[in-house]
Amino acid sequence: MNNTMPDTETTLAQIYLSWLIELGADEAISENPISRYTLPTSLPAKTQFAKPSTKPTKTAETDPVGEAHKLAQDANSLAELKAALAGFEHCELKRTAQNLVFSDGVPNARIMLIGEAPGRDEDLQGRPFVGRAGQLLDRMLAAIGISRKESAYIANVLPWRPPGNRDPSVAEIAMMKPFLERHIELVAPEILVLMGNYSCKAVLGKQGITKLRGQWTTAYGLPTLPMLHPAFLLRQPVRKRQAWADLLELQHRLAQ
Ligand code: URA
Repeated sequence: MNNTMPDTETTLAQIYLSWLIELGADEAISENPISRYTLPTSLPAKTQFAKPSTKPTKTAETDPVGEAHKLAQDANSLAELKAALAGFEHCELKRTAQNLVFSDGVPNARIMLIGEAPGRDEDLQGRPFVGRAGQLLDRMLAAIGISRKESAYIANVLPWRPPGNRDPSVAEIAMMKPFLERHIELVAPEILVLMGNYSCKAVLGKQGITKLRGQWTTAYGLPTLPMLHPAFLLRQPVRKRQAWADLLELQHRLAQ
């Protein structure tokens, strides 16, 4: 018998693992594996019958949104804002992410694009929009003569990857919003482009990207264009026509 042949159990484990990765569970969330089979089935007696304490418990007063606001406002440059984000400990996403994904592109660009949150590739490289959706974004921008190397600045609502690429939560958006607002203020672009529902939710307080897309609005005093997210276009290529119309609209505005 060939000793290098994997046994059935190994093969099954590999199939199961690939299935989990396909579902998006591609990160180990805990440092150490936990065997659910060896966990006690009932709580120790002491815990079960412990009387609730009547003494008020001393909890450290934390106000993550207030702290985010203060840190963001104290940052007077993009480098300082990045450092403030790197030191912000209240967002749980930081613990499961590999890297802080701050931005890419040129800070003096006329347009600033805002995506949702980093995915797996972005998390590994520490740069926004470098995976398949990012490559599509680069091609879309190139079609109207824009490139992140020369004429666009890109950031996300969340700077850390949500585990398994799950959607950003309302609490995470609220907590990170002061940093996003300061980011926009420091870049001071001429035009904002919001890609997808979550950036519209964070910046405009509105969702429904298929209705919002292509309609100019104002955010933070800047002309703002919601657009379909490139990841959505990868799933629904038939929508590329609409994205093309929005890109032409953007090109037209930049030419004015
Ligand atoms: N999608 C986003 O919204 N942002 C990224 O950086 C990558 C994919």
